[in-house]
Amino acid sequence: PKVAVLMGGLSAEREVSLVSGRECANALREAGYEVVEVDAGRDLAARLAALSPDVCFNALHGRWGEDGRVQGMLEWLGLRYTHSGVLASALAMDKTRAKTVFRAAGLPVVESLLAPKAEVMARHVMAPPYVVKPNAEGSSVGVYIVSKDANTPPQLGEEMPETAMVETYVPGRELTVSVLGDRAMCVTEIHTSGWYDYHAKYAPGGSSHTCPAEIPAEIADAARDYALRAHSALGCRGLSRSDFRWDDSRGIDGLYILETNTQPGMTPTSLSPEQAAAEGMSFSQLCAWIVEDASC
Ligand code: DAL
Ligand code: MG
Repeated sequence: PKVAVLMGGLSAEREVSLVSGRECANALREAGYEVVEVDAGRDLAARLAALSPDVCFNALHGRWGEDGRVQGMLEWLGLRYTHSGVLASALAMDKTRAKTVFRAAGLPVVESLLAPKAEVMARHVMAPPYVVKPNAEGSSVGVYIVSKDANTPPQLGEEMPETAMVETYVPGRELTVSVLGDRAMCVTEIHTSGWYDYHAKYAPGGSSHTCPAEIPAEIADAARDYALRAHSALGCRGLSRSDFRWDDSRGIDGLYILETNTQPGMTPTSLSPEQAAAEGMSFSQLCAWIVEDASC
């Protein structure tokens, strides 16, 4: 089958997506597929109509590629595509609405609110420590941590949209779990010297991971259970990855789901490929599984 790997795109995570896309394209060639790499620009619909691939492998991240828009276009063209569909993608990308779905599914979420950017810069809209982030971005683009003793509110940059999401900061540890179909993979713990920011995520040596995480079985089981329930409550398909904070001083009560990524990173430093490898699934087997799972 002919697979078009959609990569790049129009979001702040364009560079990450180019790396994810190339890695997946190479792995799929290795697995015997005919692969075309497609940089997803404004002419994407026309190019795909001309190319007529059997499957579109979505390796896009962020706005347009992860939020239901490209999925809607692919449905319109009648093309089979990988990962989540329109509604799940749109819901997951909107962190606040995703929390509403998580709450309804009985999952523990962190308190947060939406506030105008100007207001967030003018005063503490919540008692520090808290985190300010765009409601719909990935890769920690535009994430600000306001520490407990910060006197002044954060000065937000260009990348923050007019409305910001402000979330209680959960001290402790960073955990993440991927779901592939109906199966939760092993839990990864992420270690950084500071915040797990864009640099820590993608620079070689920027962070380290332990997979499987060295945490009590009760916490690992709960994280896997929450990831599966989040995937299913949002209506995700194929691969997703849910991110958690765990305040280990509070045991199971300190575990919170932050968000679900419907287009998890597929770069060499990314988490889902590492979790798959820990379960004996090679990168190219993972990519092939995703292609075979595509639908329209
Ligand atoms: N948004 C990045 C790609 C991730 O979640 O892996
Ligand atoms: Mg994300």
